This record gives sequence, structure tokens and C-alpha cells, in this order.
Amino acid sequence: MKEKASTIYNDIPELEFVQNRTDGEDAKKEVKSYVLRTAPLRTFQIEGVRKYYSHYGLSYQSEKLDYKKVFGNDKPVVIEIGFGMGVSTVRIAKERDMYNYIGIEVFLNGFSKTLTEVGDEKLENVRLMRFDAVQVLNDMIEDGSIAGFHIFFPDPWPKKRHHKRRLIQKPFADLLTSKLQKGGYIYCVTDWEEYAEQMVDVFNGTEGLMNPYDGYAPSREWRPTTKYETRGVNLDYTINEIWFEKQ
Ligand SMILES: C[S@@+](CC[C@H](N)C(=O)[O-])C[C@H]1O[C@@H](n2cnc3c(N)ncnc32)[C@H](O)[C@@H]1O
Repeated sequence: MKEKASTIYNDIPELEFVQNRTDGEDAKKEVKSYVLRTAPLRTFQIEGVRKYYSHYGLSYQSEKLDYKKVFGNDKPVVIEIGFGMGVSTVRIAKERDMYNYIGIEVFLNGFSKTLTEVGDEKLENVRLMRFDAVQVLNDMIEDGSIAGFHIFFPDPWPKKRHHKRRLIQKPFADLLTSKLQKGGYIYCVTDWEEYAEQMVDVFNGTEGLMNPYDGYAPSREWRPTTKYETRGVNLDYTINEIWFEKQ
């Protein structure tokens, strides 16, 4: 059953918060890598946010995060940017539980669905944020503190006039690199060939990164197939994997 956003969310403080804020006050003029999609949440998603946001959700703050306080342990932290419906997030967090994961997504439906699943499954090594990842990295993440970044099927923005919206460009590559620990990785996957080439070019030109492979990387068996990948494969697109490490 679907419920209408405007009639119900205002009674739920957690939802009111995640519903209204996706970037900082001073970020309004910047070109964004996303356009917000809206669809009414289902009852289970609303209930999920109400039940689980206080434990598994993270809210934007202007101070750096204390991972030990957030997760209660010292495991290395991996950040997933744009987790969509959370298929990879949940599976990888279960299978590779030697890491803690911070998932960042602006799409409210995907955020709420994933939060519900993470809460139902009690995945203590996952925390989720509904906010612009660029702002989160800039403001909340300490330099040199991250073990890896997962960016699976970022919006390709195929039209030339929209290329400026693509996430993987030089300034963002520099930002990711500054947040990585030595030996930390950036793992991107895309079915948009020309964007894949751009990613390799951008990361090749980023000081401090090295490519352990000759061009594209082999697929990691622990990365599950998502709807975007299936759609790309059905259209005969090549899935390219990009893996760089911080030297
Ligand atoms: C094409 S979808 C891919 C979703 C998922 N990774 C998958 O493979 O199914 C890209 C997602 O990135 C999210 N996104 C784009 N820019 C973002 C940003 N700056 N911060 C947080 N999420 C972002 C979008 O909302 C969208 O859900």
C-alpha cells in the first residue's frame, strides 16, 4: 500500500529530516550529480525509517565522524556512494563483514528501503545517510581515514551538456584520494563505455593513485549484479570495472 508523502511524513521527525535535507545550505549553487526523484513511500519504508533511523541512520553534521563511536569497533571503513536500492550494500556488508560500511544515497525510496532491510537484518556494520556524498566527504570524513570507495553504476549523464553532472571528474577524484588511507581503493563499475574511459583517464591523472591492472580490472566475485547491470547486459553494453589504489 502506498501513502502520500505530504500527508504523513510531517508526523515522523526522522522522516521529516531525511525527506527535507539532501545538501548543505551553502551548496545550493553547485552543479549536482543527481536530480531528486520522488515517489510516495510505502508503509514498510515509512515504518522502517521510524524504527531504524536513530540506530542505522547517520545525519549530516559539520564535524568529522568518529567511526569508533558510530560502529563501536575499529574495523576499516568503506564508503558506498549512490547505493540505489541497496542490493550491493546489503550483500557485501554480510559477506565482507571485516569492514564497516557507510552508504550514502539521496534517493529517498532507495534510502528507506535499504534502511529497512539493514534494520530487519541487524547489520551492525552498516550506517546509511541520505545526503549529497560530496558534502559528506568534504565535511564529515577525515583525510586518510577510508579503506575503500564503492561507486557502482553512477549516473552516466550521456548527453554532452550534462557531462558536467558526472560524479567522476578531477575535483571529485582528488577528494576521494585525499580521504583514502595508503593502500585504500576506489572501485567503480559502469556500463557506459565512454564514462568508463573517462574514469580511467581521470584516475590515471590523479596524483597519489595507481592502477594495479592494465586498464580495466577483473570483476570481484563479491559484487552482486544489480538491476542497472542487468539492464546494461540486456542492451549488449560492456560492463567495465575500474579499480585504483592509493600509493
Ligand atoms: C544509476 S543509480 C545506481 C544505483 C546502484 N549503485 C546500483 O548499482 O544499482 C546512481 C545512484 O546514485 C545516486 N547519487 C548520485 N549522485 C549522488 C550524490 N552526490 N550523493 C548521493 N547519491 C548520489 C542517485 O540518487 C542514484 O540512486
